[in-house]
Amino acid sequence: MLLVIAAFIVAFVLLLYMISPLISPKPFKLNGAHVVVTGGSSGIGKSIAMECYRQGAFITLVARDETKLVLAKKEVEKCAINDKQVVLCISVDVSSDYGQVESVIKQAQEKLGPVDMLVNCAGTSIAGKFEEVDMDRFKKMMEVNFLGSVYPTRAVITTMKERRMGRIMFVSSQAGQIGLFGYTAYSPSKFALRGLAESLQMEMKPYNIYVTVAYPPDTDTPGFVEENKTKPLETRLISETAAVCQPDQVAKIFVKDTIVTMGLFRTIALFYLCSFDSIVRRCMIQRERAKAADKRE
Ligand SMILES: NC(=O)c1ccc[n+]([C@@H]2O[C@H](COP(=O)([O-])OP(=O)(O)OC[C@H]3O[C@@H](n4cnc5c(N)ncnc54)[C@H](OP(=O)(O)O)[C@@H]3O)[C@@H](O)[C@H]2O)c1
Repeated sequence: MLLVIAAFIVAFVLLLYMISPLISPKPFKLNGAHVVVTGGSSGIGKSIAMECYRQGAFITLVARDETKLVLAKKEVEKCAINDKQVVLCISVDVSSDYGQVESVIKQAQEKLGPVDMLVNCAGTSIAGKFEEVDMDRFKKMMEVNFLGSVYPTRAVITTMKERRMGRIMFVSSQAGQIGLFGYTAYSPSKFALRGLAESLQMEMKPYNIYVTVAYPPDTDTPGFVEENKTKPLETRLISETAAVCQPDQVAKIFVKDTIVTMGLFRTIALFYLCSFDSIVRRCMIQRERAKAADKRE
């Protein structure tokens, strides 16, 4: 009996896999697209910007430190595949004030056109035992890692909806999938991104906007070096059970996952969510019909 159930599950999963190209969003072309990367001056964000540039995108790098931004711009420019490509730098704190973030995104759109893809990679981490982490760090983590992704997303979403296209990536962490010793301040801010992304995806799907969440493993970046200085022994030992990845390696995978058709597990989730999506679509159609009727009257 168990064997029959197992065979049925395997057959079902294979079937989903085979039809996944039919229900996946169309692959997204980076060539000529405007990609905004928050946290684009360092580490994973910089590597994502370089990967997108290698595929012909126009890039806006967002971070606070202007010197780091200028250095990153030079590195990204080395990955150009044509002489029309442009890298724009914007210095802003993505977590402090929505008005400011909205205004700089508007400036970027005026220069490079509407944002086709937003990568929310700006983030920071701190490790420490719960009772030893300063209270203001809990607030800081939520501000930078969560609100610092909400603000840029909100600033691009209206235009994406009007154009009925767009991709949004949230960069969470493996500590955003499971809570680990030493991450009581960091993990919740990364878990929050998943809730945001899944809810947003349901709202955005009828507008052909697709949302992905990246869960990087330990990756060799300046941010990782800083975090290591604060890790308690237990966190360090847990961390050492897995290899440290290179930022270019993880960036390649995340960009592919965002622009190409979705993988098997997202396909299964898609099936599961199908009925909810049809409710959202029905509401949208009803609302548009009502609007059109109002206009006619
Ligand atoms: N490296 C890892 O092992 C690892 C693992 C899992 C998840 N992650 C996540 O991946 C993302 C990138 O990490 P990373 O290791 O590449 O870090 P990183 O090397 O420290 O780079 C962080 C980037 O974010 C920017 N940034 C930080 N706070 C900002 C703010 N308030 N406003 C605007 N920009 C801000 C930084 O520039 P400025 O300081 O100049 O603003 C920098 O460009 C983070 O969200 C991190 O949580 C990393």
